[in-house]
Amino acid sequence: MPSVLPLGDPAPSDGLLPAQAADGAAVRAFGLYVHIPFCAVRCGYCDFNTYTATELGGGASQDAYARTAVSEVALAATVLARSGVPDRKLGTVFFGGGTPTLLPADDLAMILRAAIGQWGIEDGAEVTTEANPDSVTRESLAVLKDAGFTRVSFGMQSAVPHVLKVLDRTHTPSRVPQVVQWAREAGLAVSLDLIYGTPGESLADWRHSLETALSYQPDHISAYALIVEEGTKLAAQMRRGEVPGIDDDDHADKYELADELITEAGLGWYEVSNWARTPEQACRHNLAYWRGDDWWGIGPGAHSHVGGVRWWNVKHPSAYANRLSQGLSPAAGRETLDAETRTLERVMLEARLQSGLEVSTLSPGGRHEVAGLIADGLVDPPAAFRGRLVLTLKGRLLADAVVRRILPD
Ligand SMILES: C[S@@+](CC[C@H](N)C(=O)[O-])C[C@H]1O[C@@H](n2cnc3c(N)ncnc32)[C@H](O)[C@@H]1O
Ligand code: SF4
Repeated sequence: MPSVLPLGDPAPSDGLLPAQAADGAAVRAFGLYVHIPFCAVRCGYCDFNTYTATELGGGASQDAYARTAVSEVALAATVLARSGVPDRKLGTVFFGGGTPTLLPADDLAMILRAAIGQWGIEDGAEVTTEANPDSVTRESLAVLKDAGFTRVSFGMQSAVPHVLKVLDRTHTPSRVPQVVQWAREAGLAVSLDLIYGTPGESLADWRHSLETALSYQPDHISAYALIVEEGTKLAAQMRRGEVPGIDDDDHADKYELADELITEAGLGWYEVSNWARTPEQACRHNLAYWRGDDWWGIGPGAHSHVGGVRWWNVKHPSAYANRLSQGLSPAAGRETLDAETRTLERVMLEARLQSGLEVSTLSPGGRHEVAGLIADGLVDPPAAFRGRLVLTLKGRLLADAVVRRILPD
């Protein structure tokens, strides 16, 4: 089953935001996330809010989804205006899932058109879609490019058949160079998602996946350690001893190898799990999340954030469609973050960025820790001397532990 939503306060049925949301909005960037909650097959490790045709049941249809999402775009514009948030053009748009490209490219184009019609879009804006390598064609990628998409992020995961099998992936390794070529021909920038630490994956397997991914010369790579999410098929397999458990040392070795090979290939890290060929090719939409900018999340289970007000939509596609068809906000709950919580979140997210964190934003206790972190080889000394906390390679391996040390007790 997909993961659960947070608790929080109830959200009003008209979706109106508290006054705090509008404060300073005119100078903050504004982005749009569009969640497409469908997949052809559920991968055994994934607990995202996504549904296969059999899981979906009655009441919600993939065919009607684009129209429902467009109705939330209209509602979003009304809610923001009525809440006093000034009109801003979109700086980034990100279609994620699920598998956005399981919908016809024309449906994704329709949602993007509606959003651009509503808010306008900045020159040079970044417009990304995630895609499963099995769910695009040469033609669909060309339609996306014509509609204004600039970037596609393919779930490659691995180039090794036995690893793809444990992950329940449907694509064969040879599909990836094919779709990368089509995306390039269409004029789209290409990112590849990789996963390391899958049960049964050797270091040599991981090296092969990295070398293969890099041979396609992507503009961007994300490499995430496999997380065993409670309630997934993979977690059950591990509990029953059918597949070996996760080994932290194996993860560390694989992260180091990833950083070494990806850096040698000319890409640079800009967040612990993300590398880009040039700073301009870093994912601006994700950077906006990590820096606490404003974004509206369209779709079931999607999260939004405007000026410290965070809310999330009802999770199931039928409940979502029902709310919107009655003219009601699909928001299920929300929370208004106080200044202290916003600072804490900023520390947790910005510490993971290559641009680092302003040491002066830390509490006195956190600032006091910096010398110890340098002594332990976790924080870069020259950057700290300039007043910024930037992780070393060892620090990136232990990022969560570093963050725990700099947060107030
Ligand atoms: C929405 S998916 C990308 C598009 C498409 N659904 C696909 O998988 O090809 C986003 C990424 O999250 C990764 N992901 C999902 N669950 C994960 C987990 N438990 N551990 C690590 N990565 C995970 C996926 O492998 C995928 O690359
Ligand atoms: S295709 Fe992507 S979103 Fe769908 S289940 Fe697999 S990893 Fe999750």
